Amino acid sequence: MTNDQPIGIFDSGIGGTSIWKAIHNLLPNEKTIYLADSKNAPYGQKSKEEIIALSMKNTDLLIEMNCKLIVVACNTATTNAIQELRAKYTVPFIGIEPAIKPAATHSKTQTIGILATKGTLNSELFNKTTEMYHDTKIVEQVGHGLVQLIENGDINSPEMTELLGSYLTPMIEANIDYLVLGCSHYPYLIPQIKKILPEHIQIIDSGEAVAKQTQNILKDKVGFSSAQSSSRSVGTIFYTNSNPKVLAEILENKYTVEERDF
Ligand code: SIN
Repeated sequence: MTNDQPIGIFDSGIGGTSIWKAIHNLLPNEKTIYLADSKNAPYGQKSKEEIIALSMKNTDLLIEMNCKLIVVACNTATTNAIQELRAKYTVPFIGIEPAIKPAATHSKTQTIGILATKGTLNSELFNKTTEMYHDTKIVEQVGHGLVQLIENGDINSPEMTELLGSYLTPMIEANIDYLVLGCSHYPYLIPQIKKILPEHIQIIDSGEAVAKQTQNILKDKVGFSSAQSSSRSVGTIFYTNSNPKVLAEILENKYTVEERDF
């Protein structure tokens, strides 16, 4: 079974490109459409109702663009809206959830840290997941301000270093041996995070797991593209509704970014 429709991916902004990269690396022949809802970033401080409404707005556009599968490349949107999206639309959805399971399973200190938005940490879905690992101490930290700095292109700013230091130090003191990045924007902070964390602390994000799950759904339910081209820019469209320069820069200026209203 083949299916040449594109895969749709949306995020509250540019962070979901970390998920897009993992999908594109694994499935280079798949056409993808990426929506960066940067105008409404960050989602992490919004109410559940607002997050659902924004997620539906993004989904409507991706469906209009004929997408065969939608990846919700935003932890906050997944944990707050994926059930409502699945109930409303027939297209399959893949979401991203913080990788608590591998961290809790492999932790030797039985203490792990999670850095995520307020919306993710407060969500019912996240709290149901953590309840399953009651033998593990989970040190939760809201990454106040991080998404906004990334969206502004201030990844390497002194303010970022200061914020990360204040968020990670209590986790180091609590003896974590795994740090879970529970927001698709945060993988872009890994070089700075590594400067702060002792070497033995492992950092986990969800990109590869989401890419594998995408591959499985295409194989079992939706169909792979028939295209054989692996040219990097073929079949990839990036749309943003604000600040196209920052999105282009995070993609190392290798891809065309279009600004449109949505
Ligand atoms: C945000 O928009 O606040 C962050 C997105 C995420 O949780 O991945």
